Amino acid sequence: MERLVDTLGRPVRDLRISVTDRCNFRCVYCMPKEVFGRDYPFLPRAELLTFEEIERVARVFSGLGVEKIRITGGEPLVRRDLETLVGLLAPINGLDLTLTTNGSLLARKAEALKDAGLKRITVSLDSLDDGVFRAMNDVDFPVTRVLEGIDAALAAGLAPVKVNVVVKRGLNEESVLPMARHFRGTDVVLRFIEFMDVGHSNGWRLDDVVPSAEIVAAIDAELPLEPVQPAYRGEVANRWRYRDGSGEIGVISSVTQPFCGDCTRARLSADGQVYTCLFAVKGHDLRALLRDGASDEELTAAIAEIWRARTDRYSELRSAATADLQKVEMSYIGG
Ligand SMILES: C[S@@+](CC[C@H](N)C(=O)[O-])C[C@H]1O[C@@H](n2cnc3c(N)ncnc32)[C@H](O)[C@@H]1O
Ligand code: SF4
Repeated sequence: MERLVDTLGRPVRDLRISVTDRCNFRCVYCMPKEVFGRDYPFLPRAELLTFEEIERVARVFSGLGVEKIRITGGEPLVRRDLETLVGLLAPINGLDLTLTTNGSLLARKAEALKDAGLKRITVSLDSLDDGVFRAMNDVDFPVTRVLEGIDAALAAGLAPVKVNVVVKRGLNEESVLPMARHFRGTDVVLRFIEFMDVGHSNGWRLDDVVPSAEIVAAIDAELPLEPVQPAYRGEVANRWRYRDGSGEIGVISSVTQPFCGDCTRARLSADGQVYTCLFAVKGHDLRALLRDGASDEELTAAIAEIWRARTDRYSELRSAATADLQKVEMSYIGG
């Protein structure tokens, strides 16, 4: 088959799979309580892809060039027996398989995930200050339990553990330096992420974004940094290492330095919709094909057609004109 690329010449290399739209946290920048309350219409179980359906889709994407899969959500570890899915995906052709979690259930799951074949893990943690963290997850979850999860992941051999920190102006800017100090010289790599205007319910304003350049400058002033060359084209994080050799950090600048030109990511929602951009308004229904008995060839052709038609470069176009789009929520599409 000829090399599959989209209208801008971008291949499909990464797939993010959301396994649930539910979460036990209500992070203020992702699932604000006022929107994701008791009455929120989360997906009924029957609408979720089964693990076997997810495995099939993953194999088809692998055949089309996907080399890396990230399991995400919502909170992936709230889906029962998630390690079973890891066990199904891990053996697929040389896949780089990883998972993003809020860490709340990780202390008791890390070993099983590793045994099932998970190689790496990313944990989200926005502050080491217990008060700030509880306010950001908005369910009063203590920071110590996430730190226990990170330790369990390291002990299980899932190192290096990446820790994602979303920085929001006025909320946790003060947490940046203490986190850098705490994790420097460990097997944990911090990645600071600019607060993004995903979904249409997180009340995003440009003023709330702390530019990555500001974060790098703040860390560099105390702990001198130098840039690291990207490991591969399309790497989302800009990497920096401590000049004294005590490790590295990354910054993800999707607002101040959009990277659509190199974006090779597809996303599969928990109910089997394919999205070709995090900021998409509409997905493509693969579940209907799966449940109508489509063959692997038919699935391959359908996905190839979606990818070939892909034009998305939302982050580069971000402007007043796109602000009111009914974009899908990050907890649904998978961050
Ligand atoms: C949607 S979460 C799903 C996985 C898991 N629940 C977690 O929190 O790691 C994936 C990542 O997206 C990040 N995220 C969520 N909302 C965001 C926003 N508005 N801007 C930037 N990053 C965001 C989270 O911090 C997390 O690192
Ligand atoms: S960022 Fe992750 S943990 Fe926080 S609400 Fe969103 S899905 Fe849940």
